[in-house]
Amino acid sequence: MSDVKTYPVKTEFQSQALIDNKTYQTMYQASIDNPEQFWAEQAEKLIHWDQKWQSVMDVDYREAKISWFNGAKLNVCYNCVDRHLENNADKTAIIWEGDDPEISESITYRELHEKVCRFANLLKARGVKKGDRVCIYMPMIPEVGYAMLACARIGAVHSVVFGGFSPESLKSRILDSDCKVVITADEGLRGGKKVPLKDNTDTALKHCPDVHTVIVVKYTHAKINWTPERDVDYQQQAATLSSECPVEIMDAEDPLFILYTSGSTGKPKGVLHTCGGYILYAAITHKYVFDHHDNDVYWCTADAGWITGHSYIFYGPLANGATTLVFEGVPTYPDAGRFWQVIDKHKVNTFYTAPTAIRALMGQGEQFVKQASRSSLRLLGTVGEPINPEAWEWYYHTVGDERCPIVDTWWQTETGGILLTPLPGATDLKPGSATRPFFGIKPALMDADGNELEGEASGALVMSQSWPGQMRTVYGDHQRFIDTYFSQYKGYYFSGDGARRDADGYYWITGRMDDVLNVSGHRLGTAEIESALVLHEDVAEAAVVGYPHDIKGQGVYAYVTLMSGQSPSDELKQTLTKLVSQEIGAIAKPDVIQWAPGLPKTRSGKIMRRILRKIASNELDNLGDTSTLADPSVVDDLIENRANR
Ligand code: WT7
Repeated sequence: MSDVKTYPVKTEFQSQALIDNKTYQTMYQASIDNPEQFWAEQAEKLIHWDQKWQSVMDVDYREAKISWFNGAKLNVCYNCVDRHLENNADKTAIIWEGDDPEISESITYRELHEKVCRFANLLKARGVKKGDRVCIYMPMIPEVGYAMLACARIGAVHSVVFGGFSPESLKSRILDSDCKVVITADEGLRGGKKVPLKDNTDTALKHCPDVHTVIVVKYTHAKINWTPERDVDYQQQAATLSSECPVEIMDAEDPLFILYTSGSTGKPKGVLHTCGGYILYAAITHKYVFDHHDNDVYWCTADAGWITGHSYIFYGPLANGATTLVFEGVPTYPDAGRFWQVIDKHKVNTFYTAPTAIRALMGQGEQFVKQASRSSLRLLGTVGEPINPEAWEWYYHTVGDERCPIVDTWWQTETGGILLTPLPGATDLKPGSATRPFFGIKPALMDADGNELEGEASGALVMSQSWPGQMRTVYGDHQRFIDTYFSQYKGYYFSGDGARRDADGYYWITGRMDDVLNVSGHRLGTAEIESALVLHEDVAEAAVVGYPHDIKGQGVYAYVTLMSGQSPSDELKQTLTKLVSQEIGAIAKPDVIQWAPGLPKTRSGKIMRRILRKIASNELDNLGDTSTLADPSVVDDLIENRANR
């Protein structure tokens, strides 16, 4: 692709990198030619096993049966904490930077061990056993990590729910995986604003009769309601318990956690990851994608409520004995220089964030960046959505001073870790491309008839070979797992994304092919938002689509049809927006509501979203065939009253 700018690997970076291009080629080939041998070697090198496996990989995509390291035993918490004590007890495991720039804290591996053991003992004291599900609804304070690791230590399965989700969303996730214990805090802080986590939990639990314990971390010390038999004061109780807690030895295929993510239909799915494969994949990708060196300070700005927080704030870095920065705040508080100030303050070497944050900060001008030296930075990364070349260039030139490679990492909640990415010492970069597959990853592009495309091509992005970090099932609904990922292309894992492969074999993600939106890197199902809107008694029908948004990547565009006799008003718009916020969370709020007297439907009653997407994006010359519509005239009204022109 001669029209695309390429940034070759810099020799200064390559000379210190773990993997150069030649090594990448050799290791990649080995991982594809003989995956079992490759993964066995990596598993020996990166993970402590209490017992070795009988077989490396038992996978049948046609049956959606995926199992790695069968017969092996290990404990993930031991791998992330205990095994570093012998040589690195006094190394900083976690640097915590509060929402308030005056507040930060360092936690060594020794301290982490003590905190996690006490937390684990508290869970045990409340009756939590191996296999039980525990819901974690927390702000970004170190205790969220302690809680996750404490679960892993005793073999409980955590389900972290993003602190920005509403009580309603929290409730449905608690019920779906039958959690009987919830871990929360009195309040969280974000950008100087308080998030009433305990109040939200109380509201959610009105409909969760089986929850017998709520462990509350007192953080802001706000006044909260207290249910004496149920609520437990974390600080008070943990202090009385032992600072030692034996680890539960787990089977490689025992569940480690559940994490809910949106699909194109129905309720969010409980994506289930297991112990052995997940921790190996999180560790190896963190090590090579971020070219991790022992003394690096590494910072991923995600929230623990998303997979990025699981794999690349906690599990991957801690498995590698790294120093990982946990940030409570937001990019623009107290001002738009916060990221760069934190980088200077803690001498951050590796910085991993989302394109939406980069775009928002780019809009604030470069003076905020230039106020900080950023001289510690060595490597930059992005994740969550396609990065537009303009934002990539700004990140590269203005933030990284043309010194730091950028790893544009493509992956999903389902994949557990990064699948497509440059390796910074090996891969020439092209702005906007997630470049090449990681070790053991065999991507393919499919046409509409299910044929694999060769060479330069565009199609549905699938994987033809399993990797250890792949999800194993949808919690409680294996059929949904099969239907969602393995039914479209027999013998392949279907990602839901479309992609293009260029002449150099580089991949360019073109976005979701299903009805899933990506708003500021957050995944939202259009069906979920529609269900929230139709809860209102004045609403007859709703259809939600995405449209291009300068900062968020995609915005939420809702077409709403009212019950006959109801009239549209700005007040109703506000009520509906609030309703979505209450049902899902503020991230799902529609950016635009358009009143639609009718929706374009086929004669069989199916809403033609293709047309709605075009109208929302103001792409009118390209509406396609509308002749099959039951009533083509509704389109004229929608065009006439569209919001983006
Ligand atoms: C979807 C997965 C992966 C952790 C955060 C999101 C989109 C993710 C990229 C990227 C283009 C990307 C895809 C994917 N996506 N990373 N580097 N370039 N698109 O996890 O919530 O499971 O969302 O995010 O569409 O399917 P998630």
